Amino acid sequence: MENRAPVRLVAPGLAVLLVLLSGCTGSTVQGRPGAAGVRDPYFPKAGNGGYQVEHYGLELDYDPARGVLDGTAVITARATQGLSSFNLDLSGLRVDSVRVQGEGARYNRTGNELTVRPAEDLEKGEVFSTEVRYSGRPKALSDPDGSKEGWITTSDGGAVAVGEPVGSMTWFPGNHHPSDKATYDITLTVPDGFEAVSNGELRSRTQRPGGRTAFAWHNPEPMASYLATAAIGPYKVSTGRTPSGVGVYTAVSPREAGASAEVLARVPEMVEWGAGRFGPYPFGTAGAIVVPPQALGYALETQTKPVYPGAPTEELVLHELAHQWFGDSVSPKSWKDMWLNEGFATYAEWLWAEEHGGPTAEERFRAFVDGDTSVDEAADSDWDAFPPAAPPGPDDISGNPVYYRGAMVLHRIRQEVGDAKFSALLRGWAADHRHGNASTADFTAYAEEKTGQSLKQVWDVWLYGEESPV
Ligand code: ARG
Ligand code: ZN
Repeated sequence: MENRAPVRLVAPGLAVLLVLLSGCTGSTVQGRPGAAGVRDPYFPKAGNGGYQVEHYGLELDYDPARGVLDGTAVITARATQGLSSFNLDLSGLRVDSVRVQGEGARYNRTGNELTVRPAEDLEKGEVFSTEVRYSGRPKALSDPDGSKEGWITTSDGGAVAVGEPVGSMTWFPGNHHPSDKATYDITLTVPDGFEAVSNGELRSRTQRPGGRTAFAWHNPEPMASYLATAAIGPYKVSTGRTPSGVGVYTAVSPREAGASAEVLARVPEMVEWGAGRFGPYPFGTAGAIVVPPQALGYALETQTKPVYPGAPTEELVLHELAHQWFGDSVSPKSWKDMWLNEGFATYAEWLWAEEHGGPTAEERFRAFVDGDTSVDEAADSDWDAFPPAAPPGPDDISGNPVYYRGAMVLHRIRQEVGDAKFSALLRGWAADHRHGNASTADFTAYAEEKTGQSLKQVWDVWLYGEESPV
């Protein structure tokens, strides 16, 4: 009010007009449209600007016989700018209604962008709730590298959802970029006879009319949307606990149960080993989902319960569990930072092997340098084809150099700083960015600060060097 006084002195008529106008609109908020993507270097349209999600509440009813999903997503977010409209990422499906703060909102769709225009502009800093009702047959996507992701139907009559990098937009609307992490409650309602499994802890299992059961899953720690999962099928479920009390829930396709039993029995031991190596396990629960073979060509570190494409090996389970620290808790800022996931998870396999009667990490490293497949089968792969911190294109973000040369970057650091400092670095990195996001530049700065050594040669040759380091 006070700041209107000078205006009134100069032009009383104008001041009255301004007061009347602001009275008419009912608010002085001046929003503008949120960006349609966060300009990821590899997936520029993934994610959206102008808000950060705090929580996703997903109520999903799935009819496996028809392959139809009926969903309600309640997305609680905070505006990071004044917003006249904002986008959600959604692929396929039909949007039936959108409400913002309880009021009907206008919306339209182009490609994988759902643009929502609330009845009233949102203020910077405002926490607002968006409810999207949607339905239809979710469809899998084909990645740039040719692999399948998103909602994938399985040969047991069910389905499984995996979302790296952008497949989660096939089953719920959201801010589908790893830079926006949120907590989740995912309730899956399925016909009796099916189990329904998701991230976090099973809060309740409730009988619903019409021979259906609702499984309510609660994921209280921040999660990047690519790590969300839903697995529906006639799974064989077992529960247990790690020695330090973390709940373990495994869901295994019955035909894979025999071949999975021995390795899954070691999940508690592996979680405990990771805690010893990398610091406290970042989540309240752990586990595994083993889907029927042929559904998927790879495993994914879906948060708390990795998805395996059939009975896994010991190395694969260790790899996906290591991602819980590196990838899931410390998540990449962009898809360019994939080696922070894959290099670390691969190196964790090397560490596990050297402490469990396998080759040492030094032997592994040498095997790659020499192409010696008797130590590591992958040693003659194109591990040196490009620098791990700069994959040439979106079809390379899961390429061999991201995994193997990424692991070799870590081993080069270890060679430079010694075992004690290297151990402290891994632990410190996981602690410093726990439940957050980090980039390659964050890591290189942290590594030099933490070890007190210049590692420039390692970055120049191994991490960023276009030429093969050997
Ligand atoms: N992040 C997964 C893992 O290494 C692999 C995902 C592979 N995805 C792909 N599109 N090739 O555990
Ligand atoms: Zn991995």
